[in-house]
Amino acid sequence: MTKLFITGGAGFIGSAFVRLLLNERPDVELINFDALTYAGNLDNLADLESKRHHFVRGDIVVREDVLANLPQDCDAIINFAAESHVDRSIASAGEFLRTNIIGTQVLLDAARERNVRRFVQVSTDEVMGSLPEDDLSYFTEDSPFAPNSPYAASKAAAEHFVRAAHHTFGVDTVITRCGNNYGPRQFPEKFLPLTISNAMHNDTIPIYGDGLNVRDWIYVDDHCRGILAALEKGKSGSVYNLGARNERKNLEVVHSLLDTLGKPRTLLNFVKDRPGHDRRYAIDPSLAETELDWRPLESWESGLAKTIDWYQQNPTWIERTRSGAYQDYYKNQYGVEVRTT
Ligand code: NAD
Ligand code: DAU
Repeated sequence: MTKLFITGGAGFIGSAFVRLLLNERPDVELINFDALTYAGNLDNLADLESKRHHFVRGDIVVREDVLANLPQDCDAIINFAAESHVDRSIASAGEFLRTNIIGTQVLLDAARERNVRRFVQVSTDEVMGSLPEDDLSYFTEDSPFAPNSPYAASKAAAEHFVRAAHHTFGVDTVITRCGNNYGPRQFPEKFLPLTISNAMHNDTIPIYGDGLNVRDWIYVDDHCRGILAALEKGKSGSVYNLGARNERKNLEVVHSLLDTLGKPRTLLNFVKDRPGHDRRYAIDPSLAETELDWRPLESWESGLAKTIDWYQQNPTWIERTRSGAYQDYYKNQYGVEVRTT
């Protein structure tokens, strides 16, 4: 059996990765180690009935808990656990430093102490900052670091510690950097599920600034396949950019969603801009395509259709997450009321 220790596996991307592993790798047994913050949700794992999946509630910052649950002869740690929302990091950065930086270092130390064979750090294109609008430049693995938000800075710092563990101590590491994910089970503070969920409730949809910021969107399962390819085929010490060559302006995204849902554009509510709002992300995934033989499988149209369908089929999931912690945040930051019923 291949033994994996997956952190943050009750969140959006982590739970999709666990599902992919259980479906496609019969020889894998895994510990899913997650603190269950506001973003962690056991409902995301409810359909997984495998004897090869062991959920443990635990905090990656607590060394003793990590070591107590790390299996002997562990083949890899895959670190998804993070505070992941840019707006929250602007409101308060403390948890981002704690989990994203210190937690990553705790896991790297544990990997070294226990001779874990490989460490995969799930990172983000945001460590490279913002690209000029409407030009043909892309992020490559060699783009300089230029994180602009506290979230991005914490993920950049984590990458530096991963690099240092490889360089100084010979830990076998791989880093993946991805753009904006979309798909089922994404917490509705993020733009795409927030739009779908608000539109379904006929609530207004906050658009930051002029709505012309560009994000490079990828379906969550395609991202997970890229992480799996990096785990299995990536060169030690490497970084791989994962992207679907799918740049979209925010207004274009929201118009597509409203049109598909049959909702009017009068729901759009232009609010003040996010402080330090990155203008454009765009990823060149050539290295991953060549070295990992990885390609996204979903088109934007097929991925969006699957995503909308999942939210429409799972109203209870949306109600439970919407009744969570994010309404006060939106009210304070953007003056936006979000209904809970
Ligand atoms: P998410 O917020 O949905 O999930 C994060 C998970 O981590 C939650 O289950 C939470 O309970 C858990 N967690 C938080 N702090 C923890 C701690 N101290 N110990 C253990 N578990 C903890 O995030 P996501 O969108 O699924 O992102 C997963 C990873 O992918 C993150 O590292 C993020 O930076 C990265 N990433 C996300 C995107 C995206 O578009 N969402 C894109 C690129 C990279
Ligand atoms: O690029 C990868 C990153 O993508 C990940 O590392 C982050 O974890 C993930 O949250 C995401 O960051 P963004 O800040 O790009 O995602 P968010 O969904 O918050 O916002 C997407 C775009 O939509 C951004 O330009 C801000 C805008 N936006 C967002 C929200 C929540 C709005 O206009 N209105 C909103 O209400």
